[in-house]
Amino acid sequence: MHYGEDVKQAVVTALAALGRPGERCVGLVTGTGLGGLAAMLDEAREIATAELPGFPRTTAPGHAGRLVAGTVGGRAVLALCGRQHLSAGHGPREVAFGVRLLAGLGVKTLLPTNAAGALDPHFTAGGLMRVTDHINLTGRNPLTGPNDDSLGPRFPDMSRAYCPRLGAIADATALALGIRLERGVYAGVVGPSLETPAETRMLRLLGADAVGMSTVTEVIAARHLGLDVLAISCLTNVNLPDCMAETTLETVLETARRAEADLARLLAAVIPAC
Ligand code: HPA
Repeated sequence: MHYGEDVKQAVVTALAALGRPGERCVGLVTGTGLGGLAAMLDEAREIATAELPGFPRTTAPGHAGRLVAGTVGGRAVLALCGRQHLSAGHGPREVAFGVRLLAGLGVKTLLPTNAAGALDPHFTAGGLMRVTDHINLTGRNPLTGPNDDSLGPRFPDMSRAYCPRLGAIADATALALGIRLERGVYAGVVGPSLETPAETRMLRLLGADAVGMSTVTEVIAARHLGLDVLAISCLTNVNLPDCMAETTLETVLETARRAEADLARLLAAVIPAC
């Protein structure tokens, strides 16, 4: 599924009121419990994604389903609040829909954020991790099937899926702001059930530092489109296989909301430099 011209037109019409259609801009995708990040946009106007023709329904908790346009430090930003999840039964192309739409609207840099479970025992709940790489364990890929050559190549390179230049900017900015920013590998799973201790041990053995149910599908679509990606995980819980604590949606949402202020501060400084 690729967005149709009608959905693009609907957004552009809204954007005429919203801001600056066609301008090269940054696309922010807000993760579970992180929808409040859109509040950092100045001159913000929004449109409910439910009003966009063909836009897949957003059902996940903590995801509002709106597209907000505005500026951060003078830089044009489109924030997609309410992503699609494989866990909700969406197909990988539906999950990629929003990213492709953002790219069609002028986004060149994608900033996906997410809530994730920490696997590195040194990480703490409420902390932030810059995603340096991912392991796609969903068994799905938004690019299977005939390739749309107008979007990108048949076999997109993933050797630098997460832009090292943007990563260095984020690291330096976090240091300057006194925000602890971990770095690590994100394992993407389908969910919606959380991981067993044995699965958690396996993910760690595979080289993952955090685990979550989003982002990898979007990043594959983004790299196919040639977008630069900077992804940040909010570590909402720490999963230790030998003493697994219970994780509930409530704690994930609450911890994400607690970490949101730091993440907003970081992004406010990073976005103008992207
Ligand atoms: N596992 C998978 N997804 C998650 C987790 C987790 O522990 N925490 C937040 N999203």
